[in-house]
Parts: sequence; C-alpha cells; structure tokens
Amino acid sequence: MESGKPFKILVLHGPNLNLLGLREPEIYGFKSLEEINDKLVEYGSKDNLRIQQSNHEGDLVDAIQGACGWADGLIINPGAYSHTSIAIRDAIVACAFPAVEVHLSNIFSRETFRHRSFIAPVCIGQISGFGWYSYILGLNALICHLGMYTK
Ligand code: DQA
Repeated sequence: MESGKPFKILVLHGPNLNLLGLREPEIYGFKSLEEINDKLVEYGSKDNLRIQQSNHEGDLVDAIQGACGWADGLIINPGAYSHTSIAIRDAIVACAFPAVEVHLSNIFSRETFRHRSFIAPVCIGQISGFGWYSYILGLNALICHLGMYTK
C-alpha cells in the first residue's frame, strides 16, 4: 500500500494459528501462517514488521509489553483468547498504541461464544471474515490510521 512514512508494527498471532493451512481449512483457508506472514511483509514492504505467534496467553502479553515504546501500532489475531482474555486487553490498554483486531473467519456468523471479544473494545477497529485477506485489510487500516493521526 502506498503511504508516506514507514511505521513500526507488531503483528501478533494467537493460539492454534500456527496450524493454519491444516486446521479446519473450510473455515480458516488453505494458506499457512508462513504464507500469510509473507503476504504481510509484501504488502507492508515500506514498514518495519515484527511478527510473532504464540499459543500462550502470557507470551502474547510479553510480546505486547516488549513492543511498548518500539511499535507505532499492533495487528492482533488473538484466536480463542479474543473471547476470554482480560490480560491481553489490559496489555493493549497499558501500551496505548493503536491496535486492530483481525479474524480470518466471521466470528459473528459462528457459535455464540465467539460473538463477544474482550479485545475489540480497546482496538481502533476489528476486521473479521475475509480469510487471510483480513490481515491485509487490518494492516492497511492501521497504516491509514497512523498516517492520519500521528506526526
Ligand atoms: C479466529 C476466530 C476465533 O474464534 C478462533 O478461536 C480462532 C481463530 C479467526 O481468525 O477466525 O482461533 O481468531
């Protein structure tokens, strides 16, 4: 995407997303996490992306805290922790950088327990349902936001 200045962006993938491509492909698609990361790097070629995945809530909190003072913004797919994690939510608030929540599937067309996200209310927005392209939409949205609201 064409934008003025490069931004430092943390991309975080939560639990079970390391299994993308193999895991319920009819819901999450056939691309592996590595292929999605390659797409992100391609689309965000002007920007400095730090990309991490963890199956552990505390590691995701550590990754957010570790990017405090470095990252201009965060793209996060918290996976199942979207629906449970106050700790991840608090870490995003503590670090005070703009965050975009992304989901491959449309969480609102699935089981009721997936309809609530603890993370979305502390994000600038949420993108859900576009498969791997949700990440690209999320990245574009964050870059546009950073371009508009930061000097
Ligand atoms: C997900 C949706 C979550 O409900 C689920 O637990 C995931 C993946 C998605 O990207 O669609 O692990 O975050």
